[in-house]
Amino acid sequence: MNTLLPQVVFEGIVTVRDRLLQMPDPLRLESGDPSFDTPDHVKEAATKALRDNLTHYAPSTGIKPLREAMFAKLQKKNGMTYLKSPDQIFVTAGGMHALYCTFRSILNEGDEVLFQVPNWTATGQIIIAAGGKLNRLKLRPELGYRWDLNELESRITPRTKAVAINTPHNPTGGVMFREDLERLLEIAVKHDLYVVSDEAYEDVIYDTEHVSIASLAERYPKSVQDKIITAFTFSKSFAMSGWRLGYAVCSGEKFSENIKKMILYTANGISTPTQWAGVAALTGPQDCITTMRAAYRERRDLLFAGVNQTDFLRCEVAPQGAFYVYARITPAWNGNAWDLSNYLIDNFSLGAIPGDIFYDDTPSIRFAYACKTDMIRRAIQTLASAGKPARA
Ligand SMILES: Cc1ncc(COP(=O)(O)O)c(C=O)c1O
Repeated sequence: MNTLLPQVVFEGIVTVRDRLLQMPDPLRLESGDPSFDTPDHVKEAATKALRDNLTHYAPSTGIKPLREAMFAKLQKKNGMTYLKSPDQIFVTAGGMHALYCTFRSILNEGDEVLFQVPNWTATGQIIIAAGGKLNRLKLRPELGYRWDLNELESRITPRTKAVAINTPHNPTGGVMFREDLERLLEIAVKHDLYVVSDEAYEDVIYDTEHVSIASLAERYPKSVQDKIITAFTFSKSFAMSGWRLGYAVCSGEKFSENIKKMILYTANGISTPTQWAGVAALTGPQDCITTMRAAYRERRDLLFAGVNQTDFLRCEVAPQGAFYVYARITPAWNGNAWDLSNYLIDNFSLGAIPGDIFYDDTPSIRFAYACKTDMIRRAIQTLASAGKPARA
């Protein structure tokens, strides 16, 4: 049997969800699934593809119109001007598959990846499944959950192969600013590291701009550009989580050869009608992005205030992106993060994910505000009353 997979754990979010969904009328703050429906013109494009019998095998790295639409988007919106052709884009089954194929393409057994903690569970488990080791660095609330880049550099070892970033960040909502990314890139160049940038939440950002680290690589030689891999998904930007559509981008020829094999032998390409939906999402009206962002901002403000009104939760920095409030559990709560999560589910049907699931050993809990605004309001009322027995 494979010896790596026993080291990989199932996502703890599923454990919480299974328990929550047994409760009546659950408050779904455990879930990062957008409450919005996929825009109609996107659904229509998939339906048309079915009607037109576009139901056959497609090239395993993606249909040409989709890669061309992605190429235009990456140049214009993400500033990746050094990209030369749509052949440097690889269509995947969501962001998760993009990350899996990426880490399998670059890592050898024992290679270390600089990895921020807390962090989305799947990224770490994918690295482990690919034979990598996590070189963990704590993100600190007092830095707005940005990396301490001096510390990061001091942690590099001869085995360090890559740094994994995610901005905006799940679970903290932290955003890496242009100057952080500039410096991170300098460090990566100096130590010849790959940079894997997960930009799943590029459009879910409130008070600042999203910067793709690849857009800062224009002035570097091709050898540097070739070591930056960016992963995107349609799940969040276009409320398309169930479609399973994402992509990885990299200018390196060696990476290209590897990831093409990974996609071929894991999925042999993504469902053809889904790819046509992706073309419509990228080339059609973009107003859904702004509409959803405005709703998420309102929900963020409500939830951030609601969490801080309790005495057992504290979130110092307002999240600047993604749709999560990551709160520290104060000594007013007499127990650990799992106890709190279970208590909220069992007594109030309220879902929230313990920080342990995000590799965090400081007592913390994540509330998602991807669900409807009304549900957020009810959750806040619940949290206010939940504090009373918590103190008893
Ligand atoms: C940080 C992060 N990256 C990537 C993804 C990938 O999403 P998907 O596989 O739905 O595209 C998610 C999903 O929640 C995420 O939170």
